[in-house]
Amino acid sequence: MKKTIAVIPGDGIGPEIIAEARKVLEKVAAKYGHTFVYDEVIAGGCAIDQFGTSLPKEMLEKCLASDSVLLGAVGGPKWDGVAKEIRPEAALLGIRSALGLYSNLRPARLFPQLADASPLKPSIVAQGIDLMMVRELIGGVYFGEKRTVTLENGERRASDEMVYSEHEIERVARVAFETARKRRKKVTSIDKANVLDSSRLWRAVVHRVAEEYPDVECSDMLVDNTAMQLVKNPSQFDVVVTENMFGDILSDEASMITGSIGMIPSSSLGEGTRGMYEPIHGSAPDIAGQNLANPIGTILSAAMMLKYSFDMPEEAERIEQAVSDTLDAGFRTADCMSEGMTRLSCS
Ligand code: IPM
Ligand code: MG
Repeated sequence: MKKTIAVIPGDGIGPEIIAEARKVLEKVAAKYGHTFVYDEVIAGGCAIDQFGTSLPKEMLEKCLASDSVLLGAVGGPKWDGVAKEIRPEAALLGIRSALGLYSNLRPARLFPQLADASPLKPSIVAQGIDLMMVRELIGGVYFGEKRTVTLENGERRASDEMVYSEHEIERVARVAFETARKRRKKVTSIDKANVLDSSRLWRAVVHRVAEEYPDVECSDMLVDNTAMQLVKNPSQFDVVVTENMFGDILSDEASMITGSIGMIPSSSLGEGTRGMYEPIHGSAPDIAGQNLANPIGTILSAAMMLKYSFDMPEEAERIEQAVSDTLDAGFRTADCMSEGMTRLSCS
């Protein structure tokens, strides 16, 4: 099969980890007779340096013309002072929105080999951690109206609107239930319905969708309690579905309990098969270029791309197995290093 992949190395450790993922994809291509054509996209801070904006139109067009997008990471302190419209993060949000990628799947699974890298007590880790966070990706407070006004007394006031319409909740809820059907058939919907109207609507719509899935167990959990339950008893979760900002925060927490945020891939999909695949960690400018980055989150993102966008489940499985075999063989990156292991990085 021939597929075009828009590749966005981005900033910080992005180029290093993307280079490793490409090597893995090339191995897969050779083994299975596929051709992957890489169309390099300059987006993020590096695009600000080169073009004065983080997502030039022709770069977005390359993403729209591709079969799928693979991204490293964007951002860094170098661009802290730039206007918000052209910030590196605006490129990410812009691509997600332009491609209509409303559902973001972030698996948090403990590799048994990394059990001692988890900050949780062994008695908790022993119960196992294998959850799929389904994060709504193109709505909510990250996309609501943002305003900063100066009051009459000279004080500034800022607001960000958190808005959800029923259809936005419904479509991502459906993804969560469909995902649960292929797993342990349990959905936990996260909200703050004791305070927020947008959460009360969220809960009502999730319950309505749940009726179409009588074989899937559905329950609600408040977001603050979820933050606690994730460290107290993570084995209770199968599929977790939540709105954009709660999902952003909780997915970092969920990743850390599995040992390292560097291990976690993600997929972002909309209605079609074209998605965007990226590790959930950031650009880590503090360790860029020092051979310290963990490329596994990106390599596993490439595996998700093969599975969800290219319908290559066997190839994806092969990559996941190779990651597991590498850990079995005693190789670790700096973020999950432990005694007696051999340290590796991107080159
Ligand atoms: C993530 C990141 C992004 C987000 C940032 C970089 C805009 O934190 O993918 O989780 O908030 O979605
Ligand atoms: Mg985040």
